[in-house]
Order: sequence, then structure tokens, then C-alpha cells
Amino acid sequence: MDKPRQGPLIPGEPVRLTDPKGRSHLITLRAGASFHTHRGTLCHDDVIGGPDGNVVRSSGGTPYVVFRPLLAEFTLAMKRGPTVVYPKDAAQIVAFADVFPGARVLEAGAGSGALSCWLLRAAAEQGTVTSFERRPDFAEIARRNVEQFFGGVPPSWRLVVGEFGGSADDPGLADFDRVILDMLAPWDYVDAVAWALAPGGLACCYVATTTQLSRTVEALRGHGAFDEPAAWESLTRGWHVEGLAVRPEHRMVGHTGFLVTARRLAPGVVPPARRRRPAKGAQEERSLKRSLIRTTWVLRSLACGSSPGGVPPGPAECVWRCCCGRLMMACAPKQRRSASSG
Ligand SMILES: C[S@@+](CC[C@H](N)C(=O)[O-])C[C@H]1O[C@@H](n2cnc3c(N)ncnc32)[C@H](O)[C@@H]1O
Repeated sequence: MDKPRQGPLIPGEPVRLTDPKGRSHLITLRAGASFHTHRGTLCHDDVIGGPDGNVVRSSGGTPYVVFRPLLAEFTLAMKRGPTVVYPKDAAQIVAFADVFPGARVLEAGAGSGALSCWLLRAAAEQGTVTSFERRPDFAEIARRNVEQFFGGVPPSWRLVVGEFGGSADDPGLADFDRVILDMLAPWDYVDAVAWALAPGGLACCYVATTTQLSRTVEALRGHGAFDEPAAWESLTRGWHVEGLAVRPEHRMVGHTGFLVTARRLAPGVVPPARRRRPAKGAQEERSLKRSLIRTTWVLRSLACGSSPGGVPPGPAECVWRCCCGRLMMACAPKQRRSASSG
């Protein structure tokens, strides 16, 4: 499975073609087939039998660089059902969910199979990956993508077409080292995750929005079977490097998702009380609403370089940073003041 493929390119393999403008296309090699572009036709037969890292020309004379795709390239170019986990997040999951060769990994949902590929590669041949996908059409896309990337369905992969967590205490679903959830409502499955994980195992959830993040962390924290969760996001920014023009790229992927991890405690062990007191109002929906109203007030009234107008809906409590960088006190009009942040 996923042996470092070397030697001549063969039919059935995916390859990446890159034109002189840097535009890439993923094609699967087939004897006698052609790839059509507005720069002419490129015959697969000119690629088959050639080396990895070759340059071939289309009928119009345009040179294309040919490489076997990296997994990051493959997952971004492959056929998609639902949104895939981006390579930057997959790398974080593999690293911080500590997916090691030999790990027993459970994944839900499999979606388009992008994360399945990363997990299969990280758990390696001596590990196993069990992927749940409740939609048969998505499961089929995931199966085809995994098959295409690895050149066959890896024996270490079990794709279950069905609902994860349908029966929370399924004896066949126990003793996993890692459980990775990429789905809309992971907080609904915390019981099932606790059941599936071996003591010391790790749960990792990938969610897109702050409300999902909050519900997931609170569900793990409130469950009792997990140690204190950790939450973060990652941003990567490419750099343009050409002569003296060395600067960040103008465009970047601003947001993909948040990651949450938590370790499974041994059965019967009670997590120690948290030393750090939650921030004032952290537990109360009412005070959350109040601070939301106050935020809205400050955002509405703060214009760059001007002091807030109007009356805030509560007592002074918070310091806000204006878009110009100044620290602003949100307080009653008489006490209102602003301070330069330097
Ligand atoms: C965003 S997609 C996952 C994408 C996938 N991680 C990838 O990289 O290609 C979320 C998937 O979770 C599936 N899903 C949601 N809840 C599920 C459950 N309880 N059991 C199995 N699959 C579920 C959905 O059908 C959907 O395909």
C-alpha cells in the first residue's frame, strides 16, 4: 500500500500536469487517451512509460511538467462530495492527534475520503482505519478516491456505510487509539467517542464555526470521561519570493476550521477540578448575550479615530481594541476614555 512509487509511469496512475503559468491538472493515465486543453492535445501515451518529473509537450508545443501527485495535491484536486479537510489541517490532525504507525483509528464521517487518505498513510500497514459515512453516495466517492490514490483499497481500511454512534456501546467499536470526527454536530457523539476510545486514547474534532467549537468543547468538558480539551486553528500564508520582491502572497485561505482534542481518562477516574476559574460570565448564556449586545454597541459606535457615541447598555467592564489599534474603554458616557495602545 502507498509504496513510494518509483520507476516509469504506468496506466491507472494519477499524475499532475503543470503548464508554464503554474496551472495544474490531475489526470489518470489511460493508454490511448488524450488530455485536451486550449493549448492543444496531450497524449497519455507520451507520458506512460516516462519518468516521474518528466516534461512532455502538447500538440500546440506547450510544455507540461509531469509528476506523481503529492497527497496534499491529490486531495485538493480529486473528485469531491462534501468539503474535504485541507492539507494544512490534515497535517495538524496527524501531528496533534498523534496518529502513529500501528494506531487503531476510527473516523466519522469519511465524506470525500481526503482525511481517510492521510489517516491511512499515518497509521500505516500495521495500523487500521475504520471510517464511517452515513451517505452511500459520499462513501462511494471516498472509496474511489482512496482506491485511486493508493492504487487499490488498502487492507488496513474498513469503510462502514452507516451512522457512527447509532449504538453508543457497540462492543465491536471499542479500544480505538484515536477517534477523529469531521461532522456537523460532534457534541451529539461524545458518549459514543468515550465508549470507542481506549484509556489514554485521543478524540479529535474538526469543526467550521465558533458555535460548533463552543458546543464541542463544553460537551467534552462536561462529559466526565475526558481530560481538559485543547482548541486551536491554524493559518498558513504562502510567500512570493522573486529577486528583491520577497513578501507574503496577497491571497491566503483565511479560514478552514477549528480543531479540538481531548484525552480519554481511564474508566471510573474523575477529572480533577479545574484550578483556573472560568472567566466571569463564561458559563452563563445570559451574560454572553449581554456582552454580545455590548460588543455590537461598541462596534457600531466606534469609528476609526473617533470616540464611541451613544450609551452602552451596561456598566463599564471591558476594554476593546478599535480597528485603528487604540484601546477603547466601553463605559458609561461620563467615564468614557480611550487610551493609545502605542
Ligand atoms: C465534511 S464531511 C467529511 C469530509 C472528510 N473528512 C474529508 O476530508 O473528505 C462530513 C461527513 O460526515 C458525514 N456524517 C455526519 N454525521 C455522521 C455520522 N453520525 N455517521 C457517519 N457519517 C456522518 C456526512 O454525511 C458528511 O459526508
